[in-house]
Amino acid sequence: MNNKQRIAVLGASGHTGGFVVAELRRRGMTPVPCGRTTDLDVALRAADAVINCAGPFVATAAPAIEAAIRAGIPYLDVTAEIEVVADTFAAYAGAAVPIVPAAAFYGGLGDLLATAALGDWPAADEITIAYALSSWHPTRGTTATGRVSAQRRDGRRIAYTGGRLQHLTGDAPDTSWTFPAPVGQRPVVGEFTMADSATIPTHLDVPEIATYMTRNAVQDLRAPDPSAPVAVDAQGRSAQTFLVEVVARSGGMQRRAVASGRDIYAVTAPLVVEAASLVLAGEGASTGVASLGARFDAKAFLGALSPRHLTLG
Ligand SMILES: NC(=O)c1ccc[n+]([C@@H]2O[C@H](COP(=O)([O-])OP(=O)(O)OC[C@H]3O[C@@H](n4cnc5c(N)ncnc54)[C@H](OP(=O)(O)O)[C@@H]3O)[C@@H](O)[C@H]2O)c1
Repeated sequence: MNNKQRIAVLGASGHTGGFVVAELRRRGMTPVPCGRTTDLDVALRAADAVINCAGPFVATAAPAIEAAIRAGIPYLDVTAEIEVVADTFAAYAGAAVPIVPAAAFYGGLGDLLATAALGDWPAADEITIAYALSSWHPTRGTTATGRVSAQRRDGRRIAYTGGRLQHLTGDAPDTSWTFPAPVGQRPVVGEFTMADSATIPTHLDVPEIATYMTRNAVQDLRAPDPSAPVAVDAQGRSAQTFLVEVVARSGGMQRRAVASGRDIYAVTAPLVVEAASLVLAGEGASTGVASLGARFDAKAFLGALSPRHLTLG
């Protein structure tokens, strides 16, 4: 990576934006922090790429993408908003610059794992994504985003079933899932649909995506007054640990991929910065919208983050 490369970071003052700025610096790149009062056209004309960390993205994604297109530079974001990912794919398929939505823990990591799990299978009958979080202290941005998404769905849930994203009513299923050791069998909430269910079907042939989240994390997220993440190490990471297991099923056969690590906000930074670095090195399509799994070699991408940021398998 050329260390003169300048990466504009929208939402740099936020929790995730801070991790992204630090990761860019660690890799010898030059972050250009942008905030609400920044003239995006001026900032992006002097940048080589833009990473959008300002959520809720329903307000920031389209204006930032439009500015990136005007400046002729790649756009990446870390949105977890399913509808924003879907809108981005629909609106910017013909964009003249690379656009990478949801290059993050949700939307990016599960997509990479699903792509790696399928391997040479042309299709699967079903993909299951099971997320185990030891706790979930949501940031202000996560809480605001959850509120916006809930309003948008008008009390309904969303799931990818029958080959499309559909709204569902009624209670989400309570069940259990046996994760690989050391997590083991845990109570989980089903139909906990995250941005992976919007990125995966854009390039993998699968009619059903089942999702599960450990119940303790759902309870943390839905607490009336949730507490924010607390930094416990020198990199500012919290004590939260995660494990994501993806199982692809085709007929009677199964393939799986697993990744674990520390702090879903912190790990988003190496995911999106690795993606920016690869895009600027000319990897993947040079125009249009594509997720991490579609744009890059999933196994190589995951390998590049291991073992520093992810433990695989
Ligand atoms: N997909 C994933 O796995 C993943 C991972 C991490 C984060 N995220 C998402 O990233 C977003 C940020 O999360 P966070 O944890 O960093 O939250 P945060 O600490 O609250 O930071 C939010 C940042 O966005 C900025 N911002 C918000 N609305 C804006 C607007 N309309 N225009 C310009 N700037 C705006 C804020 O600026 P001010 O300080 O001026 O308000 C702040 O810099 C959330 O939507 C979250 O869901 C997703």
